[in-house]
Amino acid sequence: MRRRIAIGLALGLGGCAGRQSALDPASDQAVALHGLLGLMLAVCGIAYLLVLLFLGWALWRHRRRLDHAVELEPHDRVLQLGLGAWAGLMALGLVVLIGGSFLVDRTLARHDEAAADIRVTGHQWWWRLEYRDPAGGWIETANELHLPANRPTRIEIRSADVIHSFWIPNLSGKIDMIPGRTNHLTVTPRRLGWVRGQCAEFCGLQHARMALEVKVDTPEDFAAWLAGQARPAAAPSSPGAARGLSLIASGTCASCHRIRGAVGGGRAGPDLTHLASRRSLAAGTLPMSRGALGGWITQPQALKPGAEMPASGLAPDEALAIVSYLEGLR
Ligand code: CUA
Repeated sequence: MRRRIAIGLALGLGGCAGRQSALDPASDQAVALHGLLGLMLAVCGIAYLLVLLFLGWALWRHRRRLDHAVELEPHDRVLQLGLGAWAGLMALGLVVLIGGSFLVDRTLARHDEAAADIRVTGHQWWWRLEYRDPAGGWIETANELHLPANRPTRIEIRSADVIHSFWIPNLSGKIDMIPGRTNHLTVTPRRLGWVRGQCAEFCGLQHARMALEVKVDTPEDFAAWLAGQARPAAAPSSPGAARGLSLIASGTCASCHRIRGAVGGGRAGPDLTHLASRRSLAAGTLPMSRGALGGWITQPQALKPGAEMPASGLAPDEALAIVSYLEGLR
């Protein structure tokens, strides 16, 4: 029996740890929010236990008189004292909660005056990411957010179409992405490695496939990664890849996608300059691989129905050439 309870608890709480969990905080802001959650649970838990305790006590005290009407003495001293103590306790609990909430809010707002380092724009159903270039201007990528550890990063949050919600549970609370409005958030990650973000506001058919891979790097690794993203696209490394590039530039791909240094292109879809350096495709829908790339460019509607990317109508040899080019975009 005890073992069964332990297994049940482990299964129930298993979802609380790991790379998409607010209960496994990995930044200053998430630690503060996690602390506030603990405080709320403690205060509300104590109030709940007290209510149950008094209910049990009242039932026990009057167990023989349950079938008679119970008359309350208006001047019952114990009752008056008890009610007074109860009201005082509730007021104290509320003061503790308000105090905790205020302190956490101050922690979250600590860098409110800083300029944004990263701009995130929600789209149906992917994330446009722009990083401030130390050399000036902005560097665009998509769907894989990199952050430096041990340093506050100010993130500007917007939407291009409907309301989305930016949420990386291990690093911060949720914040809405509202068309026509700019919100801000600061994160100071303290743990290296991958975590996962997810759009947290229902935004249409593929809301569930609007995931954000998040990598926390050392400041040095982050700077190196950013310098890599700032470079123009790699040149095609084979005749097949060169054919792929010319198919992209002359076909429908270029009306929505840009490949810096190779295809001027449109901005309706994700920037593909370093597509193959990301570890997933279509906002966390598929792992980055040759097969997934081929499937995605030929049958996007089968893999993510409703996505803005139309079926390409490419012949198999054309799709292969494009995949050869895309997988070289590291
Ligand atoms: Cu975007 Cu849900």
